[in-house]
Amino acid sequence: MNMIKVALFDAKAYDKPSFEYYGGLHDIQFRFWETKLNEDTVELAKGCDAVCVFVNDDVNAKVIEKLYEYGVKLIALRSAGYNNVDVHAAFGKVHVVHVPAYSPYAVAEHAMALLLTSVRRIHKAYNRTREFNFSLNGLTGFDFHGKTVGVIGTGKIGRILIDICRGFGMKVIAYDLFPAKDSDIEYVELDELFERSDIISLHCPLTNETRHMINDAAIEKMKKGVVIVNTSRGGLIDAEALLRGIKARKIGAACLDVYEEEADVFFEDRSGHILNDDLLSRLISMPNVIVTSHQAFLTEEALNNIAETTVNNILSYFNNDGVCDNELCYRCGNIESCKKERKERCF
Ligand code: NAI
Repeated sequence: MNMIKVALFDAKAYDKPSFEYYGGLHDIQFRFWETKLNEDTVELAKGCDAVCVFVNDDVNAKVIEKLYEYGVKLIALRSAGYNNVDVHAAFGKVHVVHVPAYSPYAVAEHAMALLLTSVRRIHKAYNRTREFNFSLNGLTGFDFHGKTVGVIGTGKIGRILIDICRGFGMKVIAYDLFPAKDSDIEYVELDELFERSDIISLHCPLTNETRHMINDAAIEKMKKGVVIVNTSRGGLIDAEALLRGIKARKIGAACLDVYEEEADVFFEDRSGHILNDDLLSRLISMPNVIVTSHQAFLTEEALNNIAETTVNNILSYFNNDGVCDNELCYRCGNIESCKKERKERCF
């Protein structure tokens, strides 16, 4: 095949070096677009063989129809999660590939970084000492040792977090729709996890089933003072309910790397603007809430792995008539064994 042309949407300065490097090793030309892919911008994909998208590109059925019309063959996600792509609509038209693992360590370590920062008030201490305020008032935390952490989703990231937590001497309980059979993890029902956990960390995908799994009813069951960590997807938490739980002093702290309505805000410098999202503003204003803007993945190792795997995914599609590495379809999304059973593309 000649030069493979790929429109890369939502391009950031930190994406370009690794994609240019790995693309340059093969005949892949990336066209970088700062804008996100959506119905208004899809025309930028004209003349390209593939599009490369990230978590906040909106690859809905209408966008997919247009891509199909333009002859775009492949949607290459440079993320693990794919809830922003209508894989049902893509089936039979445009193939979808993703990067199943680029550095689960990056995400699990960020979850722990947020947790330590929040519980030991590091964010407050940092600001205080910069102004020569050496008072300790209000900085009391709690020991992790002996506390119970409830991990929801024990896939690649969840299991690394479990190892990290055990290193701190924490007791781990977990919930997963498909519990790992090869582990010594103590699985419990979701309600029991809510009731017993001092800390709850979310590591399952966002699906119709998991959307707003942390809602008023779930928070009601939790311990007073529970700390909630979300480095997975914003939609797992009903943010209004979270705010209610914080105001009621039920939730001790929230560490959020993701937020349901993050698409228009996260990854951008909005410091000179008035934030229209009152809910996000209110959450950020809380002394016991830490927000990072979907940066859990952002390590050098992860960026290199993302670019290398994406380039290999693209090559595997265009240079290989058989298997398409890391392909996703609605069947793969629902049936774990699908990809293992077939020895060919999804369609
Ligand atoms: P994974 O696929 O290895 O693990 C997901 C686990 O969730 C699996 O064990 C699966 O059985 C379980 N699961 C599926 N449905 C469930 C349900 N209804 N209830 C409970 N558990 C369920 O995925 P991985 O790599 O561990 O990633 C987890 C999530 O982390 C991704 O879905 C993605 O949304 C998020 N993520 C966030 C990043 C960030 O920068 N903040 C970066 C990478 C991933």
